[in-house]
Amino acid sequence: RLQYKRAVLWSHARRGDLVCRLMLHEHLADPYPLYEGIRAEGPVYRSRAGVQAVTAHELCGQVLRDSAFGRRNEDAGTAEPAADGPPAAANAPAGGGNASFLDGEVADHMRWRRLVAPAFRTRKIAEYRHRTEEVAHRLLDAALDRGGDFDLVTDFASPLPITVISELLGITDVDVDRFAHYGLVTGRAIDGVRSVRQATEFREAAGELDAMFTALVRRRRDEPGDDLVSDLLRPQGDERLPEQEIIGTCQLLLTAGFETTTNLVSNAVLRLLSDREQWEALVADPKLAPAVAEESLRYDPPVQYSIRVVRDTLHLGGVTLPSGTVLMLVLGAANRDPDVFPDPHRFDITRPDAGQHLAFLSGAHYCVGAPLARMEADVALSVLAERLPELRRAGRLRRRPTAALRGLLNLPVSSGR
Ligand code: HEM
Repeated sequence: RLQYKRAVLWSHARRGDLVCRLMLHEHLADPYPLYEGIRAEGPVYRSRAGVQAVTAHELCGQVLRDSAFGRRNEDAGTAEPAADGPPAAANAPAGGGNASFLDGEVADHMRWRRLVAPAFRTRKIAEYRHRTEEVAHRLLDAALDRGGDFDLVTDFASPLPITVISELLGITDVDVDRFAHYGLVTGRAIDGVRSVRQATEFREAAGELDAMFTALVRRRRDEPGDDLVSDLLRPQGDERLPEQEIIGTCQLLLTAGFETTTNLVSNAVLRLLSDREQWEALVADPKLAPAVAEESLRYDPPVQYSIRVVRDTLHLGGVTLPSGTVLMLVLGAANRDPDVFPDPHRFDITRPDAGQHLAFLSGAHYCVGAPLARMEADVALSVLAERLPELRRAGRLRRRPTAALRGLLNLPVSSGR
């Protein structure tokens, strides 16, 4: 069945369907010219992959803020990712185990956000910052001890957010490699499963995460600590999250909370090292790190598209969309919309309007972890610039094999020491 679906995609792609080409990973290295092709076809691009792609910043924002568009209930948050074809599960930020509360009634979702959001308030993030700096320095020390060359992704950008989110959740025995594997497997499934092996890996990862968090939540119920799980277990006023939702939230936070941040840091460093002047500007003033992160979120967002479904027939961009139409909101394209960002294909850390990007979305599902991701990227980029001003690329990079999540598996670098 998978082979058949792939053959269908391939045949549409050969006849010029741009979304099918995207799904077949023909443009992993640089999907942006393809997005321009989709943009040139009009505000809503009808693909034979079963989705309609939207590239305009204004229309994407409109859809995201309008409750007339839902998330896709039947695929997101199930243990079984969608088969190859339409990017059905892309609305889960990066996996998400049994995060069905994200797809439930609007009131349920708002209640869930009210209970989870306090963990990501400014004061909390300031508390996590010190620890993030310690972890960043420790990782660089270890990488440099092994010699001047290291892999920016596996030695730094990946273990940093894994360690931070694990500590936040109160996971004591962190196995960085195992967690990186979970991130890879769940992230890859967002594009749709491409082989039996991939389906098995996904099921195993989901099962292991579920078992780990069930045990953790029960332990914290008996012995509360100073961690996010204990916070989630505490009632807030009359409200408390059911145990199954806390377990689902932990899985979601773990998988959504590091893969994306790893990609943000890797994408930003890759860009800076290809544009020496902007790297040197950061080295001269590491306080520019938040601006670099913001421009990188615009220029090369870790989440490239998000899926929404039309609840009742409506009009969008002059096109009638029947109920059930699946929309693919191409965030990577919206972030380079020339109507919003002048000279959009130029990476420019001094751009005043970079913050208007949709990398964290907009509306009801705006990324809960955005303040944490911004802080981690700020720390990672400023520590790198302060400690390794001579940092350079030192070999071939490898990209993550997904169209929905954009990032790197490897980026060999030399510290210049
Ligand atoms: C939602 C991006 C980091 C937790 C989202 C969504 C996007 C996104 C695009 C919306 C998905 C959709 O509805 O289609 C990113 C990026 C990150 C990042 C680019 C890093 C650069 C984090 C971190 C955490 C996190 C660090 C938590 C530790 C979540 C959660 C949601 C979410 C819980 C679901 C929110 C809801 O549906 O109400 N993120 N994220 N994210 N993100 Fe992030």
